[in-house]
Amino acid sequence: MRTQVAIVGAGPSGLLLGQLLHKAGIDAVIIERQSADYVLSRIRAGVLEQVTMDLLDEAGVGQRMHREGLVHGGFELLFKGARHRIDMQALTGGRQVMVYGQTEVTRDLMDARAAAGLSTVYGASEVSVHDFDGERPQVRYTSQGQQHELSCDFIAGCDGFHGVCRASVPAGAITEFEKVYPFGWLGVLADVPPVSHELIYANTERGFALCSMRSATRSRYYVQCPVSDSLSRWSDDAFWAELRLRLDPQAREQLVTGPSIEKSIAPLRSFVAEPMRFGRMFLAGDAAHIVPPTGAKGLNLAASDVKYLSTALIEHYRDKSAAGIDSYSERCLRRVWRAERFSWWFTSLMHQFPEAGGFGQKVQEAELDYLVNSNAAATALAENYVGLPLQ
Ligand code: APR
Ligand code: PHB
Repeated sequence: MRTQVAIVGAGPSGLLLGQLLHKAGIDAVIIERQSADYVLSRIRAGVLEQVTMDLLDEAGVGQRMHREGLVHGGFELLFKGARHRIDMQALTGGRQVMVYGQTEVTRDLMDARAAAGLSTVYGASEVSVHDFDGERPQVRYTSQGQQHELSCDFIAGCDGFHGVCRASVPAGAITEFEKVYPFGWLGVLADVPPVSHELIYANTERGFALCSMRSATRSRYYVQCPVSDSLSRWSDDAFWAELRLRLDPQAREQLVTGPSIEKSIAPLRSFVAEPMRFGRMFLAGDAAHIVPPTGAKGLNLAASDVKYLSTALIEHYRDKSAAGIDSYSERCLRRVWRAERFSWWFTSLMHQFPEAGGFGQKVQEAELDYLVNSNAAATALAENYVGLPLQ
C-alpha cells in the first residue's frame, strides 16, 4: 500500500492533519492503535484559543463548535477566599476563548473523515516506523491478523506521549526536557449545572481547584491531589466535600452535586522533545510535548503544530518548496516553549508544593494580589490565556 503522508495516531493532531491535507488534495492514511470508541472515551481539557477555532473552521469542522460551544471573555481567580475576574476580552483588545470539549472536537473530526470516505485503520498493533532518514519511509502494522506495509513520502508522528514515533528516533538525535510535578489532578465530569458561568481557578491552602464546564448542564471539576492517590480513595461524596472546602462561600452555596459520569487522576508533567523533525518524519502534538493542564494549552499547541505541518506539506507538494519543512521544528518549538513557560508559571502560581511551606503560600498570594491589581500583570496573563498569535 502507498500514500503520500502516513499519519500515526488518530487523536486530535492526527485527525486534524488528515482533514487539512484532504482539503489540499494530499493523500493520507491514519494508523491508530485503539478503537474509535476508545479514542472518544478519553476526557481531556476543553478550552480552545482563537487560533484553534480558526483552524477547525479551515478544516471545515467548526459548525457544531460554533453552535454548541460557550464563548468566554473572562475567568476568575480565587485566592484568600475571594474571587477576582480577569477580563480577558478587555485586556486583549476583544479576544475570547471557546469552551468546547476535546472529545467533541475529536468526534467532529472523525465524522468529517468518515463523511469524506477517508481511510483510518483502527485497532492496529505492532505499529513501527522505518527508513524515515531516507527517501522512502514506511509504516508497518498488523491489522485483523495481517501484516501490512504502508510506503509513503512522509510520516507524521501524531501518536501522543507514549507513541512509537518519538521512541524510534536514535537516542543521540533527540534531546528531551522534562519536569514532573509532585501532584496530580483528580477530575470529575457530572451532569450538573456549572457553579458559575465562567471558569474558576482556585489557589487554597488545601491545594488547587478548578471549576470548568462542558455545557449549561454538564460540569467538569478538578482538585489537586497526591499523585499516589488511588481512585478508590475518592468516592463522589469525598470529591464534592473536598471541592466545596476549596471554594468561596458564594460558590459553595451554588455548587450542585450529583453522580460522576467520569472520574480520573492525571499526573502533571512538562515535557519537550527537540527537534520535532527527523528527516522525513515529523512529531506533532503530545508526541513532541506535554504541558500541565493549568491554562489548557495541550490541544491548542497540538493544533498549531498541525497548522505549521500542513502548511509545510502543502508547500512541498504544490510549490515544490522545502522552506516550510526545513523550518517546521524551529517554528513549532518557539511557540511550544512560550506555552511551556506559561503553563509552568500558572501551575507554580496556583498549586500547593509540598516543599514550599507557608512562605510559598504567602508569595503565591502576593503574586495573585499583584495580578488582579496591576493592569500590566493581568494583561500578561490574559494574552497568554487567549493564546499567542501564530508567527
Ligand atoms: N500506533 C498507533 N497509534 C498510537 C500509537 C502507536 N504505537 N501509540 C499511541 N497511538 C495513538 C493513541 O491511541 C492516541 O489515539 O495516538 C493517539 C494520540 O492522541 P493524543 O494522545 O490525544 O495526542 P494528540 O493527538 O497529539 O492530542 C493532543 O491535546 O489536550 C491535549 O494532551 C491532550 O491528547 C491531547 C492533546
Ligand atoms: C477542562 O474543562 O477540562 C479544563 C479547563 C481549563 C483548564 C484545564 C481543563 O485549564
